[in-house]
Amino acid sequence: MNLDLDSTGQLGEIRDLPVHLSDALWRVESASIAPSRSAGLAICGMGGSGVGASLAIGVLGERAQRPVVALRGYSLPAWVGEDWTVLLSSYSGNTEETLACWDAAASTRRIVVSTGGELVERAREARVPVIPLPGGFQPRAAVGYATVVALEVAALCGAAASLREEVEGAAALLPSLVDAVDGEARELAAVLKDCVPVFCGAGLTAPVAYRWKCQVNENANRAAFWSELPEFDHNEIEGWGDRSVLAPVFLEDAQAPDRIRRRFDLTADVIGGAHRVTTRGETPTERLMSLVLLGDLVSFHLAVNDGTDPVAIPALQRLKAELCD
Ligand code: PA5
Repeated sequence: MNLDLDSTGQLGEIRDLPVHLSDALWRVESASIAPSRSAGLAICGMGGSGVGASLAIGVLGERAQRPVVALRGYSLPAWVGEDWTVLLSSYSGNTEETLACWDAAASTRRIVVSTGGELVERAREARVPVIPLPGGFQPRAAVGYATVVALEVAALCGAAASLREEVEGAAALLPSLVDAVDGEARELAAVLKDCVPVFCGAGLTAPVAYRWKCQVNENANRAAFWSELPEFDHNEIEGWGDRSVLAPVFLEDAQAPDRIRRRFDLTADVIGGAHRVTTRGETPTERLMSLVLLGDLVSFHLAVNDGTDPVAIPALQRLKAELCD
């Protein structure tokens, strides 16, 4: 592996995921945000700053006591009323969609998570609490922070019980898994070398499939897609007759209900086989984070195997620059 390609040390940031989980808990606690009961929690953020919301919703699953929704766009639905909490998540603090949601959420209880930028300036002026993130990351590398902040804010606004102990457990477990997960990632990256992967999850692993897609897009600068069971079995399953370059990768939860496990087996059989990976760990947070780690490492190895610096996102940067003109 040519590590010179990794000009900004993305591999180290991926492997530091457990440190990020613990630090995120500390950062939320240090922000001293008063608990208050809300009708629900809406989390607004794009790309690397939005995926943590989806992962948090996956971790909560049926444990959420009030609605927790991820919003990716310029506006809020009318049902996000003044009795809701809105978490504005932008690593840079300068993402136009998230700034538009800041305005749209003016009548709600707002909380900001960011490193700075316009969003933090606005929050300071409006005396809105800010959970500060450490600088110097790619936004997508701060996924552990984004996920834990979303979970802790859900607890602060009464949308779910605190999962602090689960997060601490995941932070303690992951270091012992990193080397084995990295070995598996290298093997999968080699298998996917000339393929367009379609990542497929279910329940806890559905937002992880989305994360894997985004990481392959951004780290490896390659096309990738995602999907989820059981919906896959009601339409997409018919589309795999000609597999050409597409490679299905099933992300399976070791503790998934029997019917979902059966569906993965049968679906793999019907479509002519799939690469299959499984969660490690016990709690939902451990299991989800074990697959986030695996996917991040797969995307990293795909990048360096292709001779791509995993930090580079030229198309995304070009589009942002042209939007500013
Ligand atoms: O990974 C990335 O760089 C992007 O997906 C960004 O997260 C996205 O464009 C939003 O920017 P920010 O995270 O600064 O709000």
